[in-house]
Amino acid sequence: MSALLIKNIKQLLQVREEGKSPIRGKEMASVPSIDNAWVLVKHGIIKDFGSMDTCPEDPNAVIDASGKLVLPAWCDSHTHLVFADTREDEFVGRIKGLSYEQIAAAGGGILNSAKKLADKSETELIASATLRLNEIMHLGTGAVEIKSGYGLSVAAELKMLRVIKHLKENHPLTVKATFLGAHAIPAEYKQNREEYIRLIIEEMLPAIAEEGLADYIDVFCETNYFTTEETSSILMAGIKHGLKPKIHVNQFNAIGGIQVGIEHNAISVDHLEVMTDKDKKDLAASNVIPTALPSCSFFLGIPYAPAREMIEAGLPLCLATDYNPGSTPSGNIPFVLSLACLRMKLLPEEAINAVTMNGACAMEVQHELGSITKGKKANLIITKPINSINNIPYSFGSNLIDQVIIDGQIMMG
Ligand code: NIG
Ligand code: FE
Repeated sequence: MSALLIKNIKQLLQVREEGKSPIRGKEMASVPSIDNAWVLVKHGIIKDFGSMDTCPEDPNAVIDASGKLVLPAWCDSHTHLVFADTREDEFVGRIKGLSYEQIAAAGGGILNSAKKLADKSETELIASATLRLNEIMHLGTGAVEIKSGYGLSVAAELKMLRVIKHLKENHPLTVKATFLGAHAIPAEYKQNREEYIRLIIEEMLPAIAEEGLADYIDVFCETNYFTTEETSSILMAGIKHGLKPKIHVNQFNAIGGIQVGIEHNAISVDHLEVMTDKDKKDLAASNVIPTALPSCSFFLGIPYAPAREMIEAGLPLCLATDYNPGSTPSGNIPFVLSLACLRMKLLPEEAINAVTMNGACAMEVQHELGSITKGKKANLIITKPINSINNIPYSFGSNLIDQVIIDGQIMMG
């Protein structure tokens, strides 16, 4: 199907000129739209759009979107969705009173996922990750960043990144790959962490660069994981190999990770549940995109990032799922929108900007995704008939998405 016309759209949302990105501060409260609209897609690209009084002749394929809204597909800029198995045993442990940190200290957590992943083949990991990608696609996600970090050995980190590369090349979603070898110190290196960091810098990174397996470098900068100094040296090594930083900071403790991210021109600093006044000030004076992960806060029962304050400070807030088996076993952006509105006091428009344009910027796909703009990829959501965009975060737990279009193709199933 080379041309597709969507017409009688009740409201076409997130209509923007090229170049207006990311959306910051006060501007986040508005999502530009056209009522009673049409969009023409040709060869997978948004060719044109407008209000119904200018609607072109019907090509062969037409969707009548009467009563429905159309918006750009979500851009989920932070996930760990390649993993071997779920960890609901830890979930039950937390119900009984253990904290995420206590579970990790007892050999659960990231190391538990690494143990499970060691035995899986690339083929098995591709199969399970494809199911997850299909699921999030039907929840409206059109682009997704995926991290390694459950390998924690040269062979297993490369295996994970090859899996992500395969998904990039074979799945309809736009995929970005992040190397997160510095996700945790493996048990056998507990007494010799320098050696694990040497492995990351001298063995993993050159091999990853050689095979072109990653776009970004990430480090879990956190007490009991990686210090700010270690984070800095790993980021510098990644940068030397052409990988830009996108890092985990301030999830449980504020140890200076934000400043390390700023210093190394990170694309984004992610989590931010615990922030000092200095962290907020430094971030506000930088160009780094702050990414909050409300479904992680929900699942672990930890504080929510001060997203409202960051918007008030003029920042381009981004929201993502953090889909992973330990802290967020969910890739559901509509649920993230509900939490952002209910728990972080974001307006629906602010939340929508955070998962479309700003999500695209946080994985550097803003020139092809994140808004309804001529020339961008036709990755679109068509909702069920609803009153307004506010209905999506309001109706938490319901799926109000009727159809998802990726590269101009209607995704079935
Ligand atoms: O972003 N915080 C570090 N990494 C993940 C959790 C990983 C896991 O528990 O498996 C996160 O929350
Ligand atoms: Fe994460």
